[in-house]
Amino acid sequence: MQNIIIIDCGSQFTQLIARRLRELKIHSVVLAWDVEPDKISDLNPNGIIISGGPDSVNEPDAIKINPEILKMPCPILGICYGMQLIAKMSGGQVASNDNHKEYGVTQIQIKDSAIFQSIPAKINVLMSHGDHVANLPEDFRITASTENNITAGFENTSKNFYGLQFHPEVNSTEFGIEILKNFVFKICLCSGDWDLENFTESTIRHIQEITGGEKIICGLSGGVDSSVAAALVNKAVGDRLQCVFVDHGLMRLNEPEDVMNSYKDLGLNVKYVDASELFLKALAGVTEPEKKRHIIGKLFIDVFDAEANKIQGAKWLLQGTIYPDVIESGMKGKKGAVTIKSHHNVGGLPEKMNLKLLEPLRDLFKDEVRVIGKIINVPDEIVNRQPFPGPGLAVRCLGEINEHRLDILRKADFIFREELQRAGLFKDIWQAFAVLLPVRTVGVMGDSRTYDEVVALRAVNSKDAMTAEWSRIDLNTLDKISKRICNEVKGVNRVVVDITSKPPATIEWE
Ligand code: XMP
Repeated sequence: MQNIIIIDCGSQFTQLIARRLRELKIHSVVLAWDVEPDKISDLNPNGIIISGGPDSVNEPDAIKINPEILKMPCPILGICYGMQLIAKMSGGQVASNDNHKEYGVTQIQIKDSAIFQSIPAKINVLMSHGDHVANLPEDFRITASTENNITAGFENTSKNFYGLQFHPEVNSTEFGIEILKNFVFKICLCSGDWDLENFTESTIRHIQEITGGEKIICGLSGGVDSSVAAALVNKAVGDRLQCVFVDHGLMRLNEPEDVMNSYKDLGLNVKYVDASELFLKALAGVTEPEKKRHIIGKLFIDVFDAEANKIQGAKWLLQGTIYPDVIESGMKGKKGAVTIKSHHNVGGLPEKMNLKLLEPLRDLFKDEVRVIGKIINVPDEIVNRQPFPGPGLAVRCLGEINEHRLDILRKADFIFREELQRAGLFKDIWQAFAVLLPVRTVGVMGDSRTYDEVVALRAVNSKDAMTAEWSRIDLNTLDKISKRICNEVKGVNRVVVDITSKPPATIEWE
């Protein structure tokens, strides 16, 4: 399969480069900056793009790529930091000059070059850099410059190196997509025939080849990614895939039954494991959010491990890892990474279980996973399911977690989502859920005083969960929801609405 490797040096636009290539029907793989050259060679790329990044190449601990990568027999395009890296590693000089910082849209003048074929001589591009290439390496030539005479593009055609100081992947760069097209079609000679239909077919064949006749196990959560991954592998190997669905007792109203029914309809071989008592016992009296997350993460691995061990002869562990997960983990260990929340996933399982890892969705974005789900007939309830955190209601039941409080939360959450559906709003909201707060307040019902729980309504719109805007739900709908929750859910006498975006808040409350 033709592909372009994108080496991620920490740019906020790395995913966008991949996105643009997808739009051009080109398969791309994002790899972290510290990738070994052998891994790239194994993929036999048609071209390599080195992304931008926040570092300055002259700093001692700046991101560096392995020099062997620059010797690979395919064209290499460096964007911003990537261009500066190529320059520095090829003997040029990069300067950090306060007088030459450029952020924002700038006009550049371009010269004759394959990468600028059929592009007007003057275009506006997005620059976002402090450093610039001050002295070209030997045998390089300038292909574009800014009005301040800063090198905005260079090339060394005998080595097949190209550099752009600006970002062709963003919309604010004029002819950006044409420049990327020139690189991938004219320079890398890609044909642009990749699409999700043929990806699905070739992935099914690939899974059949690499797993031979071996058994595969998979932990299902009801979420889109693991479900689509399992449905795809099931298409490839049938019953050789054995799934385990661990019910940690922290799912929403009727969710375990609904999810199991969908899996049966899909023809998956799934074992249901009710571990709810175990989880609730372990969580008794725990109120600290990170402690909750750690207990659930560890217990999940133990329960899944015990169940998987009962499956004789399994050689593979299937995981629903998707592209954004890979990129996030690729940058781990680099300075500046802080833990906001320890996400619950099954990382750590493959080593513990001594299994080979199968991740067929690793190169895809969420919306692409959804398209594949549709291609292989995964039911809409699963394909369009809103994200739900691994630790489930534990991070929405603030304060003490017990069966009684979970029951209150489940009912309130169900009413909230049901009313949004009735009002036709649910499908346009990224996530909507109820949160049970760790306070009680005084109320009056009939002639009696109450001292009951408070429910917060959280609904957000987002594209990727990295940032989110609180959803403007109309007041009549909110009124209906509030009345229904107070009337129908015993133990609740107050409903509040969360009107905070992310940042500064996060989507979940814990
Ligand atoms: P936050 O709360 O960090 O959440 O803004 C961002 C997105 O991630 C989901 N989330 C999780 N997903 N395991 C997951 O698989 C987790 O532990 C977890 N915690 C939060 C959250 O629902 C939102 O979509």
